[in-house]
Amino acid sequence: MSTPRPFLDTPYGAYLARDVPPPDDELTRVGPGTPGGEYLRRFWQPVAFARDLGRVPLRIRIMGEDLVVFRDGSGRVGLLQLHCAHRGTSLEYGLIGERGIRCCYHGWVFDVDGRILETPGEPSSSTLGQRLCQGAYPTHEFGGLVFAYMGPPPKRPAFPLYDTYDLAGYRLDPAGKFMLPCNWLQIKDNSMDPVHTSFLHAISSGYQFTEAFGALAELDWEVTPFGMIYIATRRVGECVWVRVADFMAPNVHQFTREIEDASREKRASRPVIIRWAVPIDDTHTWNMELAQVDPAWGLAPEEIVRPGFGQSDDRPYAERQRHPADYDAQSSQRDIAVHALEHLASTDRGVIMLRKIVRDGIRTVAAGRDPRELVREPGPPIATFAQDTVLHVPPEGDAEADRRLLRATGRRVVLGPAGERPC
Ligand code: FES
Ligand SMILES: [Fe+2]
Repeated sequence: MSTPRPFLDTPYGAYLARDVPPPDDELTRVGPGTPGGEYLRRFWQPVAFARDLGRVPLRIRIMGEDLVVFRDGSGRVGLLQLHCAHRGTSLEYGLIGERGIRCCYHGWVFDVDGRILETPGEPSSSTLGQRLCQGAYPTHEFGGLVFAYMGPPPKRPAFPLYDTYDLAGYRLDPAGKFMLPCNWLQIKDNSMDPVHTSFLHAISSGYQFTEAFGALAELDWEVTPFGMIYIATRRVGECVWVRVADFMAPNVHQFTREIEDASREKRASRPVIIRWAVPIDDTHTWNMELAQVDPAWGLAPEEIVRPGFGQSDDRPYAERQRHPADYDAQSSQRDIAVHALEHLASTDRGVIMLRKIVRDGIRTVAAGRDPRELVREPGPPIATFAQDTVLHVPPEGDAEADRRLLRATGRRVVLGPAGERPC
């Protein structure tokens, strides 16, 4: 953990506050052998979209490792270390075959599990191909995404299934993929920071979502068996709008589409976007998404795939300055946010809780155990909570009484009348 810089209480005091301490390495470093990197590698991670696997191999970088992903002629997906085990030529120039991939340089062929199928230049008496393997990681395709397990082979977990993968009336579609030039953790910090929706997405740059987002919410957070939730409850006229979002450890979150205007009662509307923040390296991150889509919305495939407003760098700098959004707020916290320079406030309770979940997981892995949120054996879908619920609850009493009413309503919607913890 990093040590906070002394509290600056001197006007015109920048001279006293110029040092920039290092980031929190335990939480933020992702490379092989780092505590955080080993923690992330214990979970299945999306590494590519199936739609991007074509006739040529796809070169990717995940958690500081250079890899190549491809689908061979028999339909199997391979994820191999980029550099050929023979003399290091990049397999991005390889030829995809009916079975496996052939290195362009001397024609060695590797199966999707890394086994060598051919070493054509070697004498028939050579046993090298039976003894040697190209480095490979296991993959699993789901929902149009290719997931990989990049941890120790004996510790491969079950593939986790969230209950939102299968919502009645909605279709699960592969959605956006966009890069942020910053560390993965500050992107996930954002997911449990609901107050920013009332400022960044409303007051700072004009309403990016509905006007209802501009109402300041009563905020609450709860730890769940697989991560945590925020509960943001707003007064909108005679209605109370409860918006819940999930963080699922280590690097997934899901949220409802930002289309709620809270104008009429609505029970637990749950179409969601599920988003992974997959580190490319310490200072670059892919956001990869699945989306629940109601066919009645009539969205074209390109609309589903397009990143939401302000999520990527697809706008000119001048426009981003005047109408900043998530991309700008998150990536400008430095390439790795320096926690020792922060002054966390009451609205940051969710950020503190999220970082504790991650740190606990990192230390649990370092101690040789499974993180709490890992699915070791296949089981029923994991219960999640993201939803929009709108209730007709007219205000009672003064502003303070209404705040208490909002808070109690939010907890009751998510936790039930007895206020039990989610399970
Ligand atoms: S470098 Fe790949 S086959 Fe020789
Ligand atoms: Fe946001």
